[in-house]
Amino acid sequence: AGVFTYDPGFTSTASCDSTITFIDGDKGELLHRGYPIDQLAGKSHYLEVCYLLLYGELPTAKELEKFENTITRHTMLHEQMQYFFRGFRRDAHPMATMVGVVGAMSAFYHDSTDIADPRQREIASHRLIAKMPTIAAWAYKYSIGQPFVYPRNDLSYAANFLHMCFSVPAEPYQVNPILSRAMDRIFTLHADHEQNASTSTVRLASSSGANPFACIAAGIACLWGPAHGGANQACLEMLKEIGSPDRIPEYIARAKDKNDPFRLMGFGHRVYKNFDPRATVMKQSADEVLDLLGVENNPILATAKELEKQALEDDYFSEKKLFPNVDFYSGIILEAMGFPTSMFTPIFALSRTVGWVSQWKEQLADPQHKIGRPRQLYLGSTARDYVDIENR
Ligand code: CMC
Repeated sequence: AGVFTYDPGFTSTASCDSTITFIDGDKGELLHRGYPIDQLAGKSHYLEVCYLLLYGELPTAKELEKFENTITRHTMLHEQMQYFFRGFRRDAHPMATMVGVVGAMSAFYHDSTDIADPRQREIASHRLIAKMPTIAAWAYKYSIGQPFVYPRNDLSYAANFLHMCFSVPAEPYQVNPILSRAMDRIFTLHADHEQNASTSTVRLASSSGANPFACIAAGIACLWGPAHGGANQACLEMLKEIGSPDRIPEYIARAKDKNDPFRLMGFGHRVYKNFDPRATVMKQSADEVLDLLGVENNPILATAKELEKQALEDDYFSEKKLFPNVDFYSGIILEAMGFPTSMFTPIFALSRTVGWVSQWKEQLADPQHKIGRPRQLYLGSTARDYVDIENR
């Protein structure tokens, strides 16, 4: 017995306390361990932000070097895991493969499933951050029928990921520093976002004492949905469907029509009701990449820019405080880099791994943590007697 608060979608329920990420949705503010996201995206880089999220402080030069060496040492996958990839249908969506392979890590790396041992927790978090780019890249390679490309530890985290995705044995991919910087920024801007659906999923899974690989696999599964991480793929598919700027009014009218389930993908956010600070940085990055690749006249970008303009001028969107979110621009950058839309969400998943892992570690270290067990508002039948089948 007891009194419960009914809060569908948890719009006003805090499930935990945390010192990792702060969001002020009205101000459009996002801080990691107190540092504003635009400063981190502009001055720092992904592995340094990983260290910050995991350990709470920016590393000294020595600490960073040690951390980078540790992550680099764990980039390879157990060779036998290749068979696991090969067991999937050849055209499997890379997210489907990732959910399976990450879950299977608990079978390959038993030692770090011992969550009672802080050292093993540490190794599990390093393994996940280090291996996720290899897993995402191999899921992609498998889906297009190309050989797996092994990680190169002389490259940066982002450059190595581009290498594993785009190199083929016949021709190594020449990583352009502007593109690897843009890739690094996409990773950084997606690194953590407090108690979103996938992070809450990781915490809920972990609350039962499940192993870290199982918990992160659960997070990946949740992220896949189009209302969450799947929005970047859905956004680009929508831009392609719109096709050219002159068709935008038709789609805006559909998004506003109460009887049409269509929504503008890449617009709106549960928490940001002013603007998404990640979208501002991502927009600059999109301009840089498109300048470099000489695709200023790309019809998708032209459509995206015009859609942004028309939606921002429209009363419906301003009244409901619907602004472009991070996925609106990340999709454009990834498309320009040559990624198929099916890789957009896997890239989000690899970027968010550090956030999931940091939140998981924080939860386990919290002496108050207990199994997550929401209640419900029961609207079903009251108690009644069983009716034998012949009398129904
Ligand atoms: N296009 C048209 N109308 C919209 C949109 C949109 N993209 N988003 C919200 N609305 C309307 C919605 O119909 C509702 O209207 P009314 O009050 O008249 O019923 C109102 O705005 C509030 O929407 P809601 O669904 O109650 O808001 P929410 O906080 O539950 O949803 C959201 C947030 C992100 C799921 C939603 O805005 C959405 O579906 N956006 C498109 C998908 C998307 O871009 N998702 C990525 C989010 S950012 C990355 C991430 O978190 O993974």
